[in-house]
Amino acid sequence: MMHTVYNGTMETGTFAIIGPGRLGTSLFRALSDAGWICTAIRARTQQSLARARAALPGQWTGDTWHQPERWPTTGLILVTVADREIERVGLRLGEEEAPWAPVVLHTSGLRPSTDLEPCRRRGMAAGSWHPLQTFPKPGMPPEVFKGALCAVEGDPPAVAAGTELARFLGMHPWPIEPAAKPLYHAAAAIAANLTHILIVEAKRHMIEAGFPPDAVGPALAPMVHASIDAALNARGFEALTGPSARGDVATAAAHRAALPPAAAEAYAAVARLIQPPSDGPAT
Ligand SMILES: NC(=O)c1ccc[n+]([C@@H]2O[C@H](COP(=O)([O-])OP(=O)(O)OC[C@H]3O[C@@H](n4cnc5c(N)ncnc54)[C@H](OP(=O)(O)O)[C@@H]3O)[C@@H](O)[C@H]2O)c1
Repeated sequence: MMHTVYNGTMETGTFAIIGPGRLGTSLFRALSDAGWICTAIRARTQQSLARARAALPGQWTGDTWHQPERWPTTGLILVTVADREIERVGLRLGEEEAPWAPVVLHTSGLRPSTDLEPCRRRGMAAGSWHPLQTFPKPGMPPEVFKGALCAVEGDPPAVAAGTELARFLGMHPWPIEPAAKPLYHAAAAIAANLTHILIVEAKRHMIEAGFPPDAVGPALAPMVHASIDAALNARGFEALTGPSARGDVATAAAHRAALPPAAAEAYAAVARLIQPPSDGPAT
């Protein structure tokens, strides 16, 4: 059976979610608050479905792959499962009796829209729609979408729908080439996730050095925020301070000696990413 593809007039107002996790429930909240109607949610297990029922209000049809229900018509399917599950979900959605919508978007920054190829064969326009934002908890407030970049690629009707959706949420849509996604997503992981890891690691060492655990976040905050602002506004490393920027080899060696092996290795590996300037800036 072949359906009509998206024709530029997305049935805005109705959507369905496959994978009600951190991003899926945050999208649910943002779209529901804006008056969209969630028609269906497919979860992995009955337990995940029960969690979604408790957290997400509305009359939506809830089911799992093991016990699928007949889905109402919907304008947009959002596939918000982990990257490793997207192809599997695409295969299942490609089956004739599976749910259908004119547009299906997955939300991975890494995986291409071709992971949803079987959906295309059923006449759905398939795309990838990646918010350059972090959703650390389920049901984040709608404001987190505002001002964030959103990388979109896929079939032209899916890109049109994804672009429309991003603008609707106050985001900046950005068309990306599928081949560029691994590098783009690695950059996102460095900026958000690796920075996060380094800050948690730094807090651990402050505490080991005797600083009170409850006060360590606020104590680091002014310096960390200033440093991140400086980095975001810099062209290169001209605003970097500290021993690596100054080429102060003895101080950097003393730091590495004070750290446990894995942290010392990470310190050295990160420091190698900069070229020491001949005249380093003063701290
Ligand atoms: N969180 C972020 O900051 C963020 C930001 C941008 C993009 N993304 C992207 O969004 C996607 C989801 O990430 P997330 O952080 O929201 O993950 P998550 O919190 O782990 O949520 C994934 C959800 O999908 C469910 N699920 C897994 N396999 C499924 C299947 N086969 N069918 C139906 N549901 C299934 C999981 O159920 P169970 O709980 O039962 O396993 C869970 O509810 C990923 O592609 C990620 O790269 C995430």
